This record gives sequence, C-alpha cells and structure tokens, in this order.
Amino acid sequence: MGGLRILLSEAEIAARVEALAGEIAQSIPDDFVMVGLLKGSAVFVADLARALHRAGARPEIEFLRLSSYGSAMVSSGEVRLLGDIPSDIEGRQALLIDDIVDTGRSIAFAADLLRQRKVGRLWTCALLDKPQRREVEAPIDFVGFRIEDVFVAGYGIDHAEKYRQLPYIGVVD
Ligand code: IMP
Ligand code: MG
Repeated sequence: MGGLRILLSEAEIAARVEALAGEIAQSIPDDFVMVGLLKGSAVFVADLARALHRAGARPEIEFLRLSSYGSAMVSSGEVRLLGDIPSDIEGRQALLIDDIVDTGRSIAFAADLLRQRKVGRLWTCALLDKPQRREVEAPIDFVGFRIEDVFVAGYGIDHAEKYRQLPYIGVVD
C-alpha cells in the first residue's frame, strides 16, 4: 500500500515544530503542563515536548481522550470525553494541544473542561488550523500551519485509523 499526496514533508514539519517550540518557550513562563488530545496529537506532542526541552522549557505531559470522527470525514458535531486527566491540574499553567482545529468543537470542549477543573492560565496550540471550517469560537495561540479545507492524514492524524504512522502529512483524496 502506498502513501498519500504529500502536503507537508517530514523536514518541513520538523523545522516548524522546532520554531513553534521556541515561540512557546518564550511565551509561557516557568512550569507548565502540556495537555494533548488523543489520539491525533500524540506524535506532535512527542516531538514538541523534546523541541521544548531544547528551547529550555521543562513541561509535564498529560493527555485527554475525546471521542473521534469514527470513519467519517466530517465531524458529527458531538464531542464526548473518553479519558480524563488527574485532578491536580488545578491552578497549573496548561498548554492544550491538538493535531487539527477544524470546526473548533474539540478544542473548545477541552478548554471548557480544563476551566471546569480550575486550571490556571491556559494556552492553546494546534499543528494544523483550517480557519475556513470554523463553526465555534476557538482562539489558537500557537499554530503550526494554516491549511486549506482538505482532509489530511499522517504524523499521528488518521483517516479511519489508517496513516497515523506516516512521518509526513498528506492529502486524502
Ligand atoms: P473539530 O472538533 O471539528 O475542530 O475537529 C478537530 C478534530 O477532528 C481533530 O482533532 C482531528 O482529529 C479531526 N480532524 C479534523 N480535520 C481532519 C482531517 O483533515 N483529517 C483527519 N482528522 C481531522
Ligand atoms: Mg483529533
């Protein structure tokens, strides 16, 4: 089985992740917790955490698991919590991280949840942003790449659970 039409190469992603880590390390003072949304952000979080270390930050790492699209290419509009974080997030500075922000529902849902858990200052980060698709307000403080309204996969991002292992990001036609 082959891959996908390449949108962002391994080298382009690596360079952008390194630069993004620099921006984040400059902006978030002292200690913070990275809160990744599973499963899509796992690969990005792993690379970003190490780039943050090189940039001088020492973040902790947590994950939240939200319901997924299943095999559909369009969002059902409903977001559910499948896996939670420990309660000691209260009062902590947090960086919420997703792979892609599309309608904005997932990251807005997760941000609300963290606020209910009385998180301290909160920042948001997405590797990919599809601003044309936004349906709910979801400010993203740190964006890797802004992309057109295309369905992508690779680098942790799936299409019906396939392609997460790809080292690059491609377009699913
Ligand atoms: P939102 O809740 O509509 O913003 O959707 C965000 C979530 O949908 C992301 O965490 C992704 O898991 C998924 N998603 C959005 N666009 C794509 C895509 O192009 N390919 C694969 N998954 C996507
Ligand atoms: Mg996702």
